Amino acid sequence: MAEEARKKIEPVRSVKGTRDLLPPATGLWQRVEEESRRVFEAYNFREIRTPVLEETALFRRSVGADTDIVTKEMYTFEDRDHESLTLRPEATASVVRAYIEHGLFNDGGIHKLYYMGPMFRRERPQKGRFRQFYQIGAEVLGSDHPSVDVELLEMLALLVERLGLGNSTLLVNSVGCARCRPEYVKVLKRALEGVKSKLCADCQRRAVTNPLRVFDCKVEADQATIAGLPRILDYLDPECRQHFEFVTAGLRDRSIAYTIEPRLVRGLDYYTRTTFEMTSGALGAQNALMGGGRYDGLAEMLGGPPTPGFGVAIGEDRLVLAVEEAGALRAAVGLDAYIAWMGDGAYGPATKLARDLRREGLSVEIRRPTDAAKLKKSLGVASKLSARYSIIIGEDEVAKGRYQVKDMTSGQQEEVEPARLVAYLKVRMGTGG
Ligand code: HAM
Repeated sequence: MAEEARKKIEPVRSVKGTRDLLPPATGLWQRVEEESRRVFEAYNFREIRTPVLEETALFRRSVGADTDIVTKEMYTFEDRDHESLTLRPEATASVVRAYIEHGLFNDGGIHKLYYMGPMFRRERPQKGRFRQFYQIGAEVLGSDHPSVDVELLEMLALLVERLGLGNSTLLVNSVGCARCRPEYVKVLKRALEGVKSKLCADCQRRAVTNPLRVFDCKVEADQATIAGLPRILDYLDPECRQHFEFVTAGLRDRSIAYTIEPRLVRGLDYYTRTTFEMTSGALGAQNALMGGGRYDGLAEMLGGPPTPGFGVAIGEDRLVLAVEEAGALRAAVGLDAYIAWMGDGAYGPATKLARDLRREGLSVEIRRPTDAAKLKKSLGVASKLSARYSIIIGEDEVAKGRYQVKDMTSGQQEEVEPARLVAYLKVRMGTGG
């Protein structure tokens, strides 16, 4: 290609609101995911993986046709055969769809499922808010008992503790059920009639179509008016009240601190009874680390048998930010050993050693023949790669049958026979002999 033409090609960049996660940052993402899996599996949750593409109707029916997610934020497109598809904005609907599609209800038991992966919402990007973001979620299907709610909240408290996040607050509320909520919505509608003119255009529309969604409003000028609206907690029927009291008593029993937040109705239509969010002081304006609640009517809304459910989704981007901020968790530093070889006769034994160490699970780097250089330069490379050990193999070492092993932290050097090297390194790295 001519030099002129080459200059005109603009590099293709990532799409607004999406980002590349590069090493070493990905190390912390892996640690957060490992810790989440460990905690979830300790509570007998098992992983489910569902597609990122779903039929649009799934979210319209479950998240709700009048929510911000469905009206403004979904990536929806028509497929070549004119079917409307959507990149999932959340995964609870997908999990319930899969539960129905695979007849998991047939065994009559409780299903505890967790997932992690990318979600897509076309929001205005800012710190902690992306258009492709990641969630780590857990759902319990098949029980409406409040002990399920308490157990899951306990699990989240453990996860947050394991990740070293001291500075988080659990907010809880109840949004009632299909029996008591209509009465509250009537009262709310009436109250909104009186103050509607003071609210933003979106709220004026919601006041008529879906009054509960007024509580999702983020317009600063509306907040004082919204704070004066009736509280759903005052309209719960006796069963919902009892359910909520069981949850809060369970939290107190387990010494899990919480705050009741009567305006917490959450931006999705499928919730019933318990709703919650956990916020983190380590985050900025986007401080909701995770959110969730009960959705006892969702399976039926999606054409399945009545199946109560309760779950959470953690914003992984925000979780990693908070963990970074707290600094309690470190990603394992990469390289265990760097093999510095010199002289043609050392190349064969050096590559063999690299293979033997790698088969034992150690992370090893070795120079290519074209990079052959002086020992000092080699050790410089080892430091740059943060190798814990350098193994020096020259033709003399090969002849002697002893390699030089240098501890890159202490600077100490020892001679070790090749056959003993794996055991030698493993003992020193605390991974057994
Ligand atoms: P959600 O509150 O919409 O709930 O999302 C859960 C979490 O995902 C939020 O608290 C936040 O940490 C993160 N999140 C949401 N949007 C973004 C974004 N644009 N950028 C970065 N992080 C974001 C749900 O999705 C429900 N499915 C939760 C649930 C599970 N309810 C029952 N089971």
